[in-house]
Amino acid sequence: MRKRPIVLLLSLLISSASVQTSAKDVNKPLYKDAGAPVEKRVDDLLSRMTLEEKVYQLNQYTLGFNHNINNLGEAVKNLPAEIGSVIYFDADPQLRNGLQKKAMEESRLGIPVLFGYDVIHGFRTVYPIPLAQACSWNPALVEQSSAVAALESRMSGVDWTFSPMIDIARDGRWGRVAEGYGEDPYATAVYTVAAVKGYQGDDLSSDRRVAACLKHYVGYGASEAGRDYVYTEISRQSLWDTYLPPYEAGVKAGAATLMSGFNDISGIPASANHYTLTEILKNRWKHDGFVVSDWGSVIQLVNQGVAADAKEAAEKAFMAGVEMDMTDNCYQRHLAELVKEGKVPVANVDDAVRRVLRVKFRLGLFEHPYTKEVKQEERLLLPESLRAVERMAEETMVLLKNSDNVLPLSGMKKIALIGPMAKNRADLLGSWSAHGRAEDVCSIYDAMHREFAGKADILYAEGCDFEDESRGGFAEALDLAKKADVVVLCLGEKRGWSGENASRSTIALPSVQEALLAALKEAGKPVVVLLANGRPLELVRIEKLADAIVEMWQPGVAGGKPVAGILSGRVNPSGKLAITFPYMTGQIPVYYNHRSPAREGRQGRYQDIPSTPLYDFGYGLSYTDYKYGDLKVSADKVKRGETLTVEIPVTNAGSRDGLETVHWFICDPVSSISRPVKELKYFEKQLIKAGETKVFRFNVDTERDLSFVDSDGKRFLEPGDYYLMVKDRKVRISVE
Ligand code: BGC
Repeated sequence: MRKRPIVLLLSLLISSASVQTSAKDVNKPLYKDAGAPVEKRVDDLLSRMTLEEKVYQLNQYTLGFNHNINNLGEAVKNLPAEIGSVIYFDADPQLRNGLQKKAMEESRLGIPVLFGYDVIHGFRTVYPIPLAQACSWNPALVEQSSAVAALESRMSGVDWTFSPMIDIARDGRWGRVAEGYGEDPYATAVYTVAAVKGYQGDDLSSDRRVAACLKHYVGYGASEAGRDYVYTEISRQSLWDTYLPPYEAGVKAGAATLMSGFNDISGIPASANHYTLTEILKNRWKHDGFVVSDWGSVIQLVNQGVAADAKEAAEKAFMAGVEMDMTDNCYQRHLAELVKEGKVPVANVDDAVRRVLRVKFRLGLFEHPYTKEVKQEERLLLPESLRAVERMAEETMVLLKNSDNVLPLSGMKKIALIGPMAKNRADLLGSWSAHGRAEDVCSIYDAMHREFAGKADILYAEGCDFEDESRGGFAEALDLAKKADVVVLCLGEKRGWSGENASRSTIALPSVQEALLAALKEAGKPVVVLLANGRPLELVRIEKLADAIVEMWQPGVAGGKPVAGILSGRVNPSGKLAITFPYMTGQIPVYYNHRSPAREGRQGRYQDIPSTPLYDFGYGLSYTDYKYGDLKVSADKVKRGETLTVEIPVTNAGSRDGLETVHWFICDPVSSISRPVKELKYFEKQLIKAGETKVFRFNVDTERDLSFVDSDGKRFLEPGDYYLMVKDRKVRISVE
């Protein structure tokens, strides 16, 4: 009995609280309810928006100082509170939070702005360039580096990275070859998935993750003659065989967004291509995020000759399926007008806005629009991030030559360190290095001093510049070489020689660098050449003179440390090429997965140079010796839909532990359409201790691994014989 008043009081309190809550809920729009499903929130918000507010969501502006010299940033001031997105050039969250406050508090509906940026291989902790990453054959490292990039970006005010760049490229003259994962569609697809996982994790709303953007959809890597922004001639068959697979994998992995390319795809520019943007991406692959144009790729439809003016360009890009216009204001100026004129249905605008809002909700921006302002030391260049860069860089480097086991250097008391890259730091960052700084990088010179402290003296001379023809420094360098036991010659490319708008007519290094090598040979000492570059190089003359060559790529902030470890033997190189190194530039395009020619043997060859590349796709040496056993298949006859297993034992017959990658290829020798001479279908990297044997295994799913697509993406598995191949070994299986 005595309990009753308390119970009554409690129930009164509870009911008044629930009255208050529901009164609050009635006033709070559904889209602001964090507990409601995203689709309901999107619908609710959309139903409240005016056409003008919708159009704002489909435009991207810029904020902060733009470092990309190819793109001129527009004036920052006076950004409207309603804008959808900005490219954020700052490295700290304050500026972001300022603009976000304006959006949240001054716009009618309080829709947060989405902040994007080009975080291509790291934000401040710069990783090896993606082409190098691909040579690691270790997708776990790619996932890890992408996760570090995501953490640094999100904590610095960036919600969305314009990465990964997954354009298949077979032409080293094209500067952007550095930004992708090489020439193979399967390998690129695997790395794409790893990058998307690393950026996005399982929960985009985490304050350590960012939305990914697959770019440049699609075929940009086929740029004619390796020039940028030009036409690409891509048959539908090649589109499906070569250029689309990484995108399909990335979409399946949940990539939030894509960026449409600059290139014209056989007459229909990528940013006005309904087939790729709508029929494939949205209708078949069911992508429910959005597509942003590349910088200016909407207005450039005028230059490309498919639109008369900005208004028509807006109509074409939008109706093809580009939801957001990056910086060129075509949508801002014309979309509402196009709707009013009946040229663009409002339903399409709604669909586009819905896609953009969906990504914003998934990123948790409505609940957490601001970035916590923590000190740089708490988010950038964290010790574990730096350790991860070094570990990755070690696995990306490719030992191309090692005559008489000159490497690792042992018993050398005097090392002559020569060349324009030896003391350089900035160029080791590579292109698109976001907020990376030269001062964060350890030069080869510093790393060699540390690595060989107490073991060898390091003598230094620059020898020559990267490209200045002056040979004034050769004599000093030669004197030094004569005094030393070995010459380590650091050659390569400046970072600006690759990346956007950085095409070169030849992939050879400037002649002065090759001449320096020739001059140093006169000392009669072994010469080890270290190469830091952003593209495959023409190495035919260097190969003849060098005793050893290490392709160290552009390793980011790890700088010279990993390569110094390779020279000392602390690190056993394990990288293998993810792109073919032509014998000479004139062979381009040259790639491993080509079709068979009509005539073989001595016909169809160049008269003046060999027809095979200098270094094949998948090539790379180690300090240990791997012996491959025989291939063993679980069944040599299978029915469609069945699986089988093929194995190969690999023994480390040397005296050092090593990481070895096995590449599994298939060949379909007779088919209703011609197929490549071989196609990579699987790869695996394992640690094999000295003396140990490891078995590498490929579980073949006949439908997935032996089928091919036709020119409209339809998959076929034809009965007949197929080969499964590893190096020079092959085994035949037949599908009934
Ligand atoms: C590049 C893109 C980049 C964009 C934004 C363009 O010029 O082609 O790759 O994401 O600029 O900076």
